[in-house]
Amino acid sequence: MNQKTKLYQSVVTGVGASLPKTIVTNKDLTKRVDTSEEWIVERTGIQERRIASDDETTSSLGAEAAKFALKNAKLENTDIDMIILATATPDNTFPASATVIQSSLGIEKCYAYDMQAVCSGFVFALEAADNAIKTGKVKNALVIGSETFSRILDWNDRGTCVLFGDGAGAVVLSSYEGSDRGILSNHLHSDGRYGDLLYVDGGPSTTTNVGYLRMDGQGVFKHAVKNISSVIEEALDYNNLKVEDIDWFVPHQANIRILESVAKKVGLNEDKIIVTVQKHANTSAASIPLALFDAVQEGKIKKGDLVLLEAMGGGFSWGSTLIRW
Ligand code: ACO
Repeated sequence: MNQKTKLYQSVVTGVGASLPKTIVTNKDLTKRVDTSEEWIVERTGIQERRIASDDETTSSLGAEAAKFALKNAKLENTDIDMIILATATPDNTFPASATVIQSSLGIEKCYAYDMQAVCSGFVFALEAADNAIKTGKVKNALVIGSETFSRILDWNDRGTCVLFGDGAGAVVLSSYEGSDRGILSNHLHSDGRYGDLLYVDGGPSTTTNVGYLRMDGQGVFKHAVKNISSVIEEALDYNNLKVEDIDWFVPHQANIRILESVAKKVGLNEDKIIVTVQKHANTSAASIPLALFDAVQEGKIKKGDLVLLEAMGGGFSWGSTLIRW
């Protein structure tokens, strides 16, 4: 799965983000389900989330985030050879929403597809783009995470509807030769035995409808802490690094208590963790690029920093990406 010697490096040259206009606070949710602002903040760290309106879709949010990333990378749309959209909430069953984004960006010559690894989708997509770049096949790739989880939430289930939000983030990966910057490692894992702890109870080949998200919260919590901690340690071992060598941890933003438990387990300094869950909630595959965008905009992540991304989600699937920024 990993390759230490490579011809080309995949360097992040641009980051972008796009959020729906509507902010929904915890107080707003108390009018919808039997919950309280205190319960949500104490158990999750979430204070508000963005919810897409009817004219905001996974592809429209993804395209906006991609435009920002391209602008930051100082590239033209037509410089892009590949688009991977990580999403579990595509506009339609097919065509791939990545091709809808391709069309709205006016790109004719590139290949585009959706990556489905739920909350881990962004790190799975980075690995695929990195592989295409390091073999010399692709020069510039757009890797997007975009989700509209609000459309698959059961708004009568207080155990899940308070946890998620909508949004999109994107990065441009560009091929560099002989650089010590770029993606240093990817480590990906899946274990389908736990599919029934977090799933959507519908789909084209089973119920023929979209279905709603279902979750065993405590079961997911336990596995999340274990798998995220082990994938961080795996990345550190592989790169011969200690936890204190990492400048920034950019985790999938599911729940502040998961992040705190992982930090305690692997000896992570909490000041080095980029946290956006309070304002975005869990945006699944979009959460890492949204957090990256904030951290870059705020001047936290800088050229040369060692940045470790990690995610865990339905499947289960989990993984990490280590980047010399
Ligand atoms: N408001 C008020 N009370 C609630 C709510 C709510 N929104 N939701 C559940 N409760 C109640 C339950 O009904 C239960 O009541 P009871 O004791 O009378 O039966 C009580 O709160 C405790 O419920 P638990 O499920 O035990 O609460 P817990 O402390 O485990 O917190 C939570 C629930 C926040 C979902 C937690 O388990 C969690 O964070 N799990 C991880 C899930 C996650 O992050 N999933 C995202 C996808 S995977 C990923 O991205 C890593």
